Order: sequence, then C-alpha cells, then structure tokens
Amino acid sequence: MSELRFDGKVAIITGAGNGLGRAYALLLASRGAKVVVNDLGGSVTGDAKGSAVHAADAVVEEIKKAGGVAVANKDSVEFGDKIVKTAVDAFGTVDIVINNAGILRDVSFQKMSDLDWDLIMKVHLKGAFSVTRAAWNIMREKQYGRILNTGSSAGIYGSFGQVNYSTAKLGLWGFTQSLAKEGEKRNIKVNCIAPLAGTRMTESVLPKEVSETLKPEFVAPFVAFLVHDSVPESGALYELGAGYIAKQRWNRSEGVQFDTDKLTPEAIKSKWDQVN
Ligand code: NAI
Repeated sequence: MSELRFDGKVAIITGAGNGLGRAYALLLASRGAKVVVNDLGGSVTGDAKGSAVHAADAVVEEIKKAGGVAVANKDSVEFGDKIVKTAVDAFGTVDIVINNAGILRDVSFQKMSDLDWDLIMKVHLKGAFSVTRAAWNIMREKQYGRILNTGSSAGIYGSFGQVNYSTAKLGLWGFTQSLAKEGEKRNIKVNCIAPLAGTRMTESVLPKEVSETLKPEFVAPFVAFLVHDSVPESGALYELGAGYIAKQRWNRSEGVQFDTDKLTPEAIKSKWDQVN
C-alpha cells in the first residue's frame, strides 16, 4: 500500500507541545503536512507556566530538524481565531484541526470549586468550539475539512474525582456527532477518540512500566488516518492505546413498549427488568 501522505495539507494541532499532540505533530509533519504547533506552555492543571524553552517552540524545532514545516502558536485554545490566523498567515489555509489541548483539575465532587469546573469547560469544550468555529467557514468554502476531537474513557464510563473532566469529555462526543452531520455535505469529516497514553497527564496514576507500553506514538498512526483524505468514517468515537483500537457505540436495551393508557409508575416498576 502506498504511504498515506499529507502533502499540501495544513494541520492545526492544539496542545502539541507535549504528550499526544507532539506525537501527532511529528508524524503529520514527517508525511508532508504543514503544521501549526499550538501550545500555551502551561502545567497539567492549567495554572503554572512550563519550562524556559517553550513547549511549542521545542516541537517546531524538532520538526524543522527532521526536514518538516511548522510554526508555533502560543495562544490558549479559547482564542481559536488567533490560532487559525497563524495557520492562514503562515500557510494560507487550514485543512485539519486536531483538538487535543487538555488539562486536569481532579478533585472529589464535594471539594470541587467553581474554578475547577470552569477551567475544565474552558479548555476542553470552549477550546474545541473556538478553534473549530474559526476554521469551519474556511473548510466549508473549500469543501474540505478533517476534524478530530479528544474525548476520554472518563467521559464514557465515569471516573472518581473527575466529574468536571468527564462532563467535558463526553460533551466533546456530542459535539463530534452533531458537527459530523453539519459537515457531511461539504466533505468535512469529524471524529473523536478516547486515547490512553503515558504522558505527564497520566504519570501520577500509571506506574512507569505500564506507561512504557502506552507510548503516544502508538496512538498517533490512528489519529493520522482519522484526519487523512481517505478516512471513510465521520461522527465516530474510537477507544485506543497500546496498539489496540476499537469503535465505541451506544448500547440501548431492547426496551418495552407500554400501552400509554396504562402507563403508570407501577406498570413501569413491574417491567423494570425488561426496560433495563
Ligand atoms: P499533556 O499534558 O502531555 O499535553 C496536553 C498539552 O495541552 C500540554 O502541552 C498543555 O500545555 C496544552 N494545553 C493545556 N491547556 C491549553 C490551552 N488552554 N491552550 C493551548 N494548549 C493547552 O497531556 P496528554 O496526555 O498528551 O493529553 C492530550 C489530550 O488527550 C488531552 O485532551 C487529554 O485530556 C486527552 N486524554 C489523554 C489521556 C492519556 O491517557 N494521556 C486519556 C484520555 C484523554
């Protein structure tokens, strides 16, 4: 099979200064994409600044050293118009958006503050909305777009101490499904992943030896395929990590059709097992 290439394509990857986003940026650039490496350069919790060398600059340098083309953008994802402007100013357009930037504010619900809630919604939901919205009309006009959103198993299954994060991550799955419908007639394909990878985000919960089996580089090839010209799917959610990839689907029970004249709480209680 011939190599899946991205020549002539412009990709914005948010949060690409570390972890998964960095792996996506390196792979897409190595296959010909011109990449906007967006990263704010903050800490996992979204408050402190990172190291002296800005994370986005470091990844751009890596790409250039390997012969690729990339520019850095250091705006927060809530300012999507600025990030898309960087792509348009540098490369004239945008074809691919990977909404990957993320933070954690893990705390049990009884201790969750407004700030813990608001920051998570701002980065994950508002961020994905803002970057995608700024790119959307460009994609509509050119009748081409590939968008990838980043959900989480925490959103699919729930997770103790992550009520804020789970809410935002499952929200991105709703965002994906509706956006896929709106993009259908204009060749804009939108998918969502729930990845698992050993990054700074997971280093406090995953032992080092487990982390080794969960390299971001094991997630990146699937992400590349999901934003490639030839991807057959739109509106889908995939779980992946350590080389395993599976499609996630809603599951509805067979259900019960009640006679609406006799639809009482008691009738429902009597058929509880069938409903479930
Ligand atoms: P990471 O912490 O290594 O990378 C996230 C990057 O996003 C960081 O470089 C950070 O500076 C950047 N960022 C944070 N807020 C930003 C903002 N407002 N604007 C621009 N950039 C910002 O984490 P990792 O693991 O690579 O996570 C990537 C995505 O995957 C996140 O959305 C995360 O929630 C999601 N995810 C990761 C999992 C894992 O196992 N690592 C599991 C499930 C989801």
